[in-house]
Amino acid sequence: MDQVKARIVRIARVLRIAAVVAKVLVIVLMVVTVLQIGAAFSLNTPALSGVFAGADLTVDQIESVLGRSALFDSLFKAANLGAMEPVYRKAIELFITFLTLLVTLFFISFARKLIDHIIAEGKPFSMEAARRIRRASYGLLILALMNPVLGLLAFLLVRFFSLVFEYGAFLQDKTEETTHIQEEIILSFAEITENKSGQTGQHIRRVSEYSKALAKAMAWSDADTENLRLASIMHDIGKLLVPSAILEKPARLTDEEFAEIKKHTTYGGQLLDHVEGDVMELARQVALQHHERSDGKGYPAGLAGDDIGLAGRIVAVADVYDALTSKRSYKDAWKPSDAYDEIVKNAGTQFDAQVVEAFKRVYPEIDAIRQKYADAA
Ligand SMILES: [Fe+2]
Ligand SMILES: [Fe+2]
Repeated sequence: MDQVKARIVRIARVLRIAAVVAKVLVIVLMVVTVLQIGAAFSLNTPALSGVFAGADLTVDQIESVLGRSALFDSLFKAANLGAMEPVYRKAIELFITFLTLLVTLFFISFARKLIDHIIAEGKPFSMEAARRIRRASYGLLILALMNPVLGLLAFLLVRFFSLVFEYGAFLQDKTEETTHIQEEIILSFAEITENKSGQTGQHIRRVSEYSKALAKAMAWSDADTENLRLASIMHDIGKLLVPSAILEKPARLTDEEFAEIKKHTTYGGQLLDHVEGDVMELARQVALQHHERSDGKGYPAGLAGDDIGLAGRIVAVADVYDALTSKRSYKDAWKPSDAYDEIVKNAGTQFDAQVVEAFKRVYPEIDAIRQKYADAA
């Protein structure tokens, strides 16, 4: 969705330049028209006619595009201007051309404002844009005075556009709502997992924020980074299927119990196996792979190097850094600098070397997240 938005803003910027160019062009044409009106009156003035000679270009060209002015024709008949001196007829024609240009200018300005609105909102459709288009459509009725068919067609077309914008805004809101609901559900699941696994407070939030910072440092797109932020919230969701007695055991775990805990990866993968969508796809990978190691000594599959998805490799670093810097029932929290050294020391063995490089680059941000979401003392 973010990529679509970015593309729309890019297109809007190009259109904005086109609108500015068109505006300048119309203003130049208006100036030329005024000069021509001057020229029409100065035909008999040798000095001036010399100045304006050659400026006679707009009327026919503009009328060939917009059609001959119906208003002018009817006025012309009503006032019996046939007998009028050619110089006045020419001047009135030019004046109508000038008005047409003025209407055009109005629409270019309107289009530019709409484009500015789209750029500022960062999204193509909004109820406000639809309202603006609807309002501007009445201006097109002025064009109908010049050419009824063209004016009416333009009016209907613009009304149709306003409907498209309204429907687009409706769909856009629905999508945002769905994403929001998804996030709420994910957070609820995370909370249940957190309570069940006996992990205190903010572990899941910190892992999610660390993962986001790492993904951004590795030049992931905004959309993918956001997906990973959500997906990593569910990394330990498989713990829901591990017996509480084991998860909450205050003493050291037996080998069998530890083997049971390790299964939370496989369970997580299974839980998320049948859900669709980018976030869920990523969540499945993360739940399944966040305990894999680059040297192949991790679990559950013992995957090595690039066989582990990048999302899995990122969350592995985020998860371990948080485990080290947090207090658990069986250990004290490490000093952040010691945890940093531990991550760096294990680059290429436990952790992916590239992810560790990113970790080093954004460490100040990681440290800020740790402090922001610290467990309540
Ligand atoms: Fe885990
Ligand atoms: Fe975890």
